[in-house]
Amino acid sequence: MKNTLKLAFLLMIFVVNLYEAFSQGIKTDFVLVNTPPYTFLGNGSSCERAEWRKSFPTDATIATYQNKICQIEKGFHEEYICKENHLLLNSPKYTDSGPYEFFCNGVKKALKLDVLYAVKVYMAEMHNITLDCYAANVNDVTWLHKDEIVLHYKKDGTIIPGKGYERRVSLEKNCLKTGNLSLTITEVRKTDAGLYLCLTDDETTKGYPHTYLLHVNEKRSSPGNQTDSNSNEAQTLSFYKTLAIVFGIFSCILILVVVILLYKLYCLTSKPSNGQSTPATASYHVQKSDDGTIDNDNTTSPKNESQLMVNHPVQESDTTGNKSSTTKPF
Ligand SMILES: *[C@@H]1O[C@H](CO)[C@@H](O)[C@H](O)[C@H]1NC(C)=O
Ligand SMILES: *[C@@H]1O[C@H](CO)[C@@H](O)[C@H](O)[C@H]1NC(C)=O
Repeated sequence: MKNTLKLAFLLMIFVVNLYEAFSQGIKTDFVLVNTPPYTFLGNGSSCERAEWRKSFPTDATIATYQNKICQIEKGFHEEYICKENHLLLNSPKYTDSGPYEFFCNGVKKALKLDVLYAVKVYMAEMHNITLDCYAANVNDVTWLHKDEIVLHYKKDGTIIPGKGYERRVSLEKNCLKTGNLSLTITEVRKTDAGLYLCLTDDETTKGYPHTYLLHVNEKRSSPGNQTDSNSNEAQTLSFYKTLAIVFGIFSCILILVVVILLYKLYCLTSKPSNGQSTPATASYHVQKSDDGTIDNDNTTSPKNESQLMVNHPVQESDTTGNKSSTTKPF
């Protein structure tokens, strides 16, 4: 008796689950209007034959997948594309909302598409935010964030927060009576960014407004200590900039001064030699000093010879040099 009761109970649960799977278990995908391509449920690559269908406004096959080839049916080429064995909707429009079906080897998977317009909200990190939503005469409220439950408020007044939202989310007291289903999130985090939905009655209907796209700005933009440190940073940065500029100008001046000094030094050292003699005579002078034994005579003699050399061609000076060298031993 006990076993048969147990079996009956299990069978009942199975039937209930089956019923849920077929009735309310249909997955609803929320997609924003005019957003990048939406990928439909269903991967064709694991099916011998696959088919994507829609039943609104009329029953129609959108695309088929056979022999590893995906083909879009007539009349759907503009809106849909096949990509990597999947069906993509180019740019969702409100009229794309409705039920869809995916068949893989005859097995059906149903999907409901809901194309929505989102109210964009911008909030700085660590600030509180309230997303407005109103609905009269509803039995429950469910706030979703990217398919995950943020908060579920039951008719009996119990609040079930989603994972990671404990002690961070709240609703108005008696929200079901007042119809104010606005969600308040305290200390918004970067991970809170994205799509939010306000749904009622077991997620079958929506409040108003129901869709938000939350952007969480980094803490930097918020006033307080952060900005002070930023301005300090900017100040030190500008200080180093001016320091670099001053140093650059100073080094430029220094290089210029050094160049001028070097040039002047070069002028000073090269001027007397130019006035006295040409390089040729200088080499001659060296030769003489090498050959000569008596320095005093040599120092006086080149001067005269150089004077001669200026007046006469080089060959003559050589001859005079030879002469002087020959005269030396005497
Ligand atoms: C589709 O299925 C194939 C084979 O099962 C798999 O290799 C591929 O990664 C899937 N594609 C996607 C986008 O999940
Ligand atoms: C609805 O409730 C929120 C707090 O949850 C509050 O900030 C807002 O002012 C309320 N709206 C109205 C119209 O009372």
